[in-house]
Amino acid sequence: MKKSILITGGAGFIGSHVVKLFVKKYPDYRIVNLDCLTYAGNLENLKEIEGAQNYYFERVNILDETGLTEVFEKHGISDVIHLAAESHVDRSITDPLAFVKTNVIGTVNLLNTAKTFWKNYEEHLFYHISTDEVYGSLDEGGFFLETTPYDPQSPYSASKASSDHFVRAYSNTYKLKTVISNCSNNYGPNQFPEKLIPLCIHNIKTNKPLPVYGKGENIRDWLYVVDHARAIDVVFHQGKSGETYNIGGFNEWKNIDIVRLLCQKMDEKLSREKGSSEKLITFVKDRAGHDLRYAIDASKIQKELGWEPNLQFEEGISKTIDWYLENEDWLNNVTSGAYQQYYAEHYSNR
Ligand code: NAD
Ligand code: TYD
Repeated sequence: MKKSILITGGAGFIGSHVVKLFVKKYPDYRIVNLDCLTYAGNLENLKEIEGAQNYYFERVNILDETGLTEVFEKHGISDVIHLAAESHVDRSITDPLAFVKTNVIGTVNLLNTAKTFWKNYEEHLFYHISTDEVYGSLDEGGFFLETTPYDPQSPYSASKASSDHFVRAYSNTYKLKTVISNCSNNYGPNQFPEKLIPLCIHNIKTNKPLPVYGKGENIRDWLYVVDHARAIDVVFHQGKSGETYNIGGFNEWKNIDIVRLLCQKMDEKLSREKGSSEKLITFVKDRAGHDLRYAIDASKIQKELGWEPNLQFEEGISKTIDWYLENEDWLNNVTSGAYQQYYAEHYSNR
């Protein structure tokens, strides 16, 4: 059967890289990007493929049961890769209910639609994209394994953990074919400038303070977004039903060291005096309940599915800075809000 893949959240940061990869690599697949375009959805991310023959966009909220059913029927959806979510921890602290609605109820809605629409479950896959944050926070030692017990600490990670549990429950109870991957922090082109790396790039460029939470000692494990998209391709095609795969690049950094690295690189690229951007570093009040350390053990996906990251961190960071400097329009449209007109201007007559 020819595949018709529903990719949810495809206008967001990671989703747009997954959509671009699948549209270009698999001309025989029908790729349906379903996204309701929250503040984080930006169709400018998909400019290069928006005219492709195998690409379709549907502006639908995953909370809308009727809308989901219509999309499944219209496109004969055979598989789902589910990325749509509220994704920012700080926003989850100020508005946890928004995260419950989209991440938990939205995911269950999508599971229900697939369960109802699909007849022979053996022929279909529901692939849920999750985060390493569901495992909680590590001290100095150890790594998150696929077998690490869930211990979410923020409203964001609690909502993602809950959605993971529902996916497993649908696999166990209804025998839906499912797979889950839990990835570490992503960085790269098209990330909304509320997250640490693009926020700092933007603020260094515009000479604004660089807010470092607490002492900057918290550790994150960073992966280039295109490497994550490649991993999603591998898990989708080769992952075993019912399994979980951790995705990460064995690449831990303290926040303050990343911010300093960005300052050094941008001083060079902008021909500024050495050390000038570091003066923008401002230590601010810590995030409530700030997880100390995330670190993924990605041996399972490496050994079983042969995936590993292509890009080293310094190269990835350099590429990322270059992308933001070369795509000033993208950043200006985000900061001015103009990106939210893109749908009305380019898609509404389709
Ligand atoms: P993002 O915030 O950039 O994009 C989310 C997308 O989902 C947006 O396009 C938004 O419009 C859409 N969306 C949100 N609510 C929706 C709804 N109710 N209905 C339809 N569409 C909706 O997020 P991201 O950083 O690209 O993350 C994508 C997925 O990957 C999420 O599930 C996230 O939990 C997971 N993840 C992210 C990271 C990371 O570092 N960013 C790491 C691991 C896992
Ligand atoms: P973020 O990019 O929000 O991702 P996550 O919370 O999912 O890990 O934050 C990455 C790290 O950077 C996290 O430890 C919080 C910290 N941080 C800052 O110090 N300052 C900031 O302005 C932001 C957005 C994050």
